[in-house]
Amino acid sequence: MSTEVAVIAVDGGELPLGGGLLALVRPALDQLEPGGMLAVLSRCRGVREDLPAWCRAQRHEYLNVEETDNGLDRHLIARGRFSVPYPTAVDRRPIEPDDGRLTNADVFKAAPMPPHADPITGFAPRGARVEPGGPSYPFTLNERDRVAPPEVAVLYDQAVSSQWDATTDIPWSKVKSLPADLERALIQIMTFLAENELSALYLPSRFIAQIHPAYAEVAMFLATQLADEARHIDVFLKRARLCGRTLGISSVTTSRSLLSLLQTEDFTEAAFLLSVLGEGTFLDLLSFIERYAPDEATAELIRRARNDESRHVHFGLAHVRAGLTADPGLYGRLEAAVRRRAAALHGIDGVPAPLQDALTVLATGSTESRALAQGHEAFRELLETMHLNRVRRLGNAGFTPAQAELISDLHTPNFM
Ligand SMILES: [Fe+2]
Ligand SMILES: [Fe+2]
Repeated sequence: MSTEVAVIAVDGGELPLGGGLLALVRPALDQLEPGGMLAVLSRCRGVREDLPAWCRAQRHEYLNVEETDNGLDRHLIARGRFSVPYPTAVDRRPIEPDDGRLTNADVFKAAPMPPHADPITGFAPRGARVEPGGPSYPFTLNERDRVAPPEVAVLYDQAVSSQWDATTDIPWSKVKSLPADLERALIQIMTFLAENELSALYLPSRFIAQIHPAYAEVAMFLATQLADEARHIDVFLKRARLCGRTLGISSVTTSRSLLSLLQTEDFTEAAFLLSVLGEGTFLDLLSFIERYAPDEATAELIRRARNDESRHVHFGLAHVRAGLTADPGLYGRLEAAVRRRAAALHGIDGVPAPLQDALTVLATGSTESRALAQGHEAFRELLETMHLNRVRRLGNAGFTPAQAELISDLHTPNFM
């Protein structure tokens, strides 16, 4: 008998190597650290030739074979150093569902996100043991602090349980027929919203393929955000088309503003411009439209869209806050991004006129002159509220009051 001590032994009986024995040998080797010993008991004579050859090919070390007293071959193998790495800590404790609910946040605790991710691990799920020698993937967002705020798993769970159906969850039968002026205003508002929602659908989608799968929850959250934006486009266009088949005006101001947003190359800058500033400002816009909604269906669809947007703003703020905590130099870069965009929008000095008029009419439900004065006042108040809330949000993210005022003032008059 060998003096070497086998850590694990498997009994292959009559099995030839290519006839089932490897299904015992490979998992057994996988339980061992590099250099660990495996004893393979066998009654199949062919294994004497096949097992050493297989070990050479797989870069394990075939040590010897001895015949035991009861006529079995006892092959001894040492696990090679070049195969899938041995796990440093194996945790077989099951995750307990809480009250029958298994949230992503629960699972997340079992496999926390690494601070840096290796492009070599490709699409391997976080926690998988990756066989060496695979190709490198072209992910560019490989740093946790630039990509993945700690609350992303919780936000993903919330997003999944908050999905709704634009076909059946809106009381469409409660849509009323409206005076022509108000109907035109509503079509214009819905056209504006849908156009901006389209940009909110396209911009995050540019970054998903750059996110390292070690931070998959971020890509998964963004997938829910894209589904939300698709539903918003759907619901706003449905509301507009209930008034007729023709939509409102798409203004050059909106078009230039959204192009400057779409051209943002950096993920964190995009999250800042789109979610913190743009969607943040839209929260107030949607509140305004809900307050003056001419019927229950319109109020409901705006309320639902606003709930979704507040989640997008929350994620954007979490993303930016995590980035700022890790790298205070980001403050200056985000301010510079806002300045660059303001420069690109040079010459645009106000809210798109068709939207401005439509919001004024919506706020009073009339084009009678005294009513319009009130509507105009409501619109001015909306702009002030948007500014105050932007400054407050920027303060929450850690900007100084002076920086927050400046950034809010430079934000696009298109709101997004
Ligand atoms: Fe949206
Ligand atoms: Fe959004």
